[in-house]
Amino acid sequence: MASESQNWVLVVTARTPTNIAVIKYWGKRDEKLILPVNDSISVTLDPDHLCTTTTVAVSPSFDQDRMWLNGKEISLSGGRFQSCLREIRSRASDVEDKEKGIKISKEDWEKLHVHIASYNNFPTAAGLASSAAGFACFVFSLAKLMNVNEDQSKLSAIARQGSGSACRSLFGGFVKWIMGKDKNGSDSLAVQLADEEHWDDLVILVAVVSSRQKETSSTSGMRESVETSLLLQHRAKEVVPKRILQMEEAIKNRDFASFAQLTCADSNQFHAVCLDTSPPIFYMNDTSHKIISIVEKWNRSEGTPQVAYTFDAGPNAVLIARNRKVAALLLQRLLFYFPPNSDSDLNSYIHGDKSILQDAG
Ligand code: DP6
Repeated sequence: MASESQNWVLVVTARTPTNIAVIKYWGKRDEKLILPVNDSISVTLDPDHLCTTTTVAVSPSFDQDRMWLNGKEISLSGGRFQSCLREIRSRASDVEDKEKGIKISKEDWEKLHVHIASYNNFPTAAGLASSAAGFACFVFSLAKLMNVNEDQSKLSAIARQGSGSACRSLFGGFVKWIMGKDKNGSDSLAVQLADEEHWDDLVILVAVVSSRQKETSSTSGMRESVETSLLLQHRAKEVVPKRILQMEEAIKNRDFASFAQLTCADSNQFHAVCLDTSPPIFYMNDTSHKIISIVEKWNRSEGTPQVAYTFDAGPNAVLIARNRKVAALLLQRLLFYFPPNSDSDLNSYIHGDKSILQDAG
């Protein structure tokens, strides 16, 4: 290290949004490397909402790697954090900050320790894909700090080892996680299908049914499904490969009718797999079911889909409206069926232009 002083600190801050799968990842073929049993496709949310902000710092005065999540220190000893740290460190290159007189060589990174502080602006582990934004930001900010010269897809393969869905948050817009074939996971990575501008009519609204932590984590839920659900095998081999092609086509052509049909069907099949697991896993609740009915009835009465719904490993609804006008109507309907300050336990996060709140009156 060129700088003789122990007093310097080098800092990088990054912000990464979460992503919502419209064709779900559920099931691993390799638990350690986090290799999935099928491809998946997601949409990355706007960075202003539902995101993780992470600051990483390095200093010769740090005597161990440490991490804080939402202000509370957490252990970094878990295998997933260690895998990401190891992969990033092994790709670190020289860093020089002339102003501060700091020079860090590739070899120095093996000896230096990092401090990491991460904040989610939404409830952690409540089925709002907090691990996706979290690990994507963890990997991205460390890669910037350590001057890792890899493209986003290569970084996505590292983030994948933190949490599968995290690999998709390295890109904006529509993203596909290719399951890959290699045993070592080198080809299991994310690619961008279309950027954020491609289909900007869509408005995504997250109806927060419950911000409590889920009872069954995605990790253990999908392990149980792989071990016990025959429907999962059928889904991975027969259903998803066709759906992926259809979804890519729907996204390319901005075909909302196909997009909505595929998104809702895939969410429903994922929850059917959860029910087919032994013991069964219930992520949705009565409020979630009521939201599905409202959307289904509306779509049927219009003759063509207006809104798509999808639910991850929790009861919260992610609703995708075909445009702003529909989003305003959707919000109006939600406020009608779930009046504020009632017992309905529904408060909403809005993604997209906030003025739709006013449009809804
Ligand atoms: C239902 O990525 O959280 O949200 O890889 O074990 O960390 P691990 O699981 P995680 O699972 C996400 C599951 C899902 C579907 C999806 O995002 O594709």
